[in-house]
Amino acid sequence: MKNHLTRRGFIRRAAAGSAALAWLGSRRPPLAFAAEAGKPALLGGVPVHRGGWSDWPKWLESWEPAVVKVLRSGKWYRGDGGHVAEFEAGYAKLLDAKRCLATASGTTALLVSLHVMDVDAGDEVIVSPYTFIATYNAILINKALPVFADTDPATLTMDPASIESRITERTRAILPVHIYGMPCDMDRINAIARKHNLAVIEDACQAWLAEYKGRKCGALGDLACFSFQNSKHIPSGEGGAVTGNSDELLDRCHAFHNVGRATGSFKGAKPYFTRGSNYRMQQFQAVILMQQFDKLVQETARRRENADYLSAQLKQIPGIQPARLPENSRAVWHLYPFRYDAEHFSGLARDKFLQALNAEGIPCSGGYHEQYFDGLLDEAIHSRGFKRLFSAARLKAYRDSFEELKGNRQVCATTVAMTQNLLLADRRDMDHIVEAVRKIQTHSATLAKAGG
Ligand SMILES: Cc1ncc(COP(=O)(O)O)c(C=O)c1O
Repeated sequence: MKNHLTRRGFIRRAAAGSAALAWLGSRRPPLAFAAEAGKPALLGGVPVHRGGWSDWPKWLESWEPAVVKVLRSGKWYRGDGGHVAEFEAGYAKLLDAKRCLATASGTTALLVSLHVMDVDAGDEVIVSPYTFIATYNAILINKALPVFADTDPATLTMDPASIESRITERTRAILPVHIYGMPCDMDRINAIARKHNLAVIEDACQAWLAEYKGRKCGALGDLACFSFQNSKHIPSGEGGAVTGNSDELLDRCHAFHNVGRATGSFKGAKPYFTRGSNYRMQQFQAVILMQQFDKLVQETARRRENADYLSAQLKQIPGIQPARLPENSRAVWHLYPFRYDAEHFSGLARDKFLQALNAEGIPCSGGYHEQYFDGLLDEAIHSRGFKRLFSAARLKAYRDSFEELKGNRQVCATTVAMTQNLLLADRRDMDHIVEAVRKIQTHSATLAKAGG
């Protein structure tokens, strides 16, 4: 993330910072130090939070025998043992989805889904711009154009009202992203998709157990994709899954991820009845993931409880706006975001606010930036392949359309986000977050004037 920490790098730094802060926290401040307590930490005062935060990821010794058993068996590949299939059954059950296919990563889950939903070279996919870059990449790798719907500044997710004007005769699918584990407004998105005969693929890579109107993300569209990369709430280093309720689609996904081998309803057809690749999960990953089902459920409850408390407290502070969720929906908070209005903080710039909050011992970042200006889309647009597939007029209009993403621009410029591991702390630590924001507001004029 330009000018900010990347999410993964951020977790590493937050954990490293935690060690230093834990050291600080173990010592009582000397008296002269205490006198500085009211002063912002960025200007030399004492940080509000000095206890550090939970490391991530965490493993338990009790997981070791199952992992060692796989190691000793020599059956590491999916085809040699049942652990991956066992994980798939368990994960589908957890989401109340009919089927799950484990994959090597969230990116490969997206590639499988886009292929199976027939997104082909020269097609267009309407997607949220406010997402991890892998979502853009998966569409680009398919030689399709990621056409960005705008972001709703109140929810930080895809604004359904901005979808229809972006549909062209080439549009094949809508790819909403439940970013930070906050469900998109799926009823409105699905209604538009049905009206225009488009596929819906949920990017649920940050939304394990998130709920939209009482139903879990993962079976709200045609297919959904999850990531189990190391920073995720249920991590296995790398890993991913495609979920859904259609046997036929999941059988197609299975075949495509396994070099095109016929499975399920396609058995009996030619052994390689379709094109395919190798996006298989290993047995080790499945075993590590299965140990974490209960942990995920328990930690999700804790994150929710802390996030609800934080939102209730933070929204009382003028200039702080927690994200709005769809009715009867529950987020899982891969990051906990709020929008920051500098006007209520003596004009203190968002990036300076981030510095000040970090200095108070509250690790935070600005979330995603306007990544479509970074050059990767220009690279695609100017590639031989895209020039063959799209007219020059279409590519120019496409590039110009980035300027229209006003909601997304606002979100990128004003968001403050904290990683999920902070939400695993206790109530007193949540109070530190609120106290730190209030402290910065109290001293915002001084901070705004201070250089650096
Ligand atoms: C929203 C989103 N989409 C896609 C991905 C890609 O997942 P992976 O890193 O497992 O390939 C991620 C993971 O970081 C993500 O957060």
